[in-house]
Amino acid sequence: MTITTDEELAGMNKISEAVAITLQKMRDAAKPGMSAKELDDMGGEILNDMGAKSAPRLTYKFPGWTCICINNEVAHGIPTGKKILQEGDLINIDVSAEMGGFWSDNGGSFVLGEDIHKHQPLVDASKRILRVAIEQIKGGVRISDIGRLIETEAKKGGYKVIKDLTGHGVGRSLHEEPLEIANYYDKHYKQRFRKNGIVAVETFIATKSSYTITGKDGWTMTGDKGGFVAQHEHTIMVTDGKPVILTKANGIWK
Ligand code: CO
Ligand code: CO
Repeated sequence: MTITTDEELAGMNKISEAVAITLQKMRDAAKPGMSAKELDDMGGEILNDMGAKSAPRLTYKFPGWTCICINNEVAHGIPTGKKILQEGDLINIDVSAEMGGFWSDNGGSFVLGEDIHKHQPLVDASKRILRVAIEQIKGGVRISDIGRLIETEAKKGGYKVIKDLTGHGVGRSLHEEPLEIANYYDKHYKQRFRKNGIVAVETFIATKSSYTITGKDGWTMTGDKGGFVAQHEHTIMVTDGKPVILTKANGIWK
């Protein structure tokens, strides 16, 4: 959406803070031995207490309040009771929700406890690249140029990017125009960021894969060539200068 009134901005601020706080609290609560379902139920309760409704559930009838991916899972991980979190796991939590007709989206990967499998450099690269990308976004910038920046930065670190998952416009629904904010340069994609536009920018930084495959459960995506993927996502408002980071309360850069 494009913000045209103070009321709209207030509505976006409110739902963005709700999803950001939920993400931050879930990340802090994650402990070895806990199931993904326990963590998700906690997230669902936090959203509910703030009057927010799970976006993937509303939009896609997703079987969970939030998406939780562990290790090789890349996106849309179902938070089942069978997934037990373990020390050193690479975990991704993605929280998106609706409140009062406004929608916001954020996510982040982290290493649970001690980094025994050495995932931290991948997580750090993804966080840093999201920051570098967001800093370059302003009204008039071509979306594909940000994709090129993300891929270039990933390659410098010896990583790849996932090409079939992207950021997107958000605000009046979970996914709206611009439909694709890719992690690579697509010369055919001519759209530009617009001042006052609300977009969810997300990284998908990978060790081996460039594309995803969807598992038998119909949801959970993994990399086509295996390996690991880190994702970090903020919902922002585009301006003439530095973007306003609406989900900054998630603390993913701390
Ligand atoms: Co998301
Ligand atoms: Co998103």
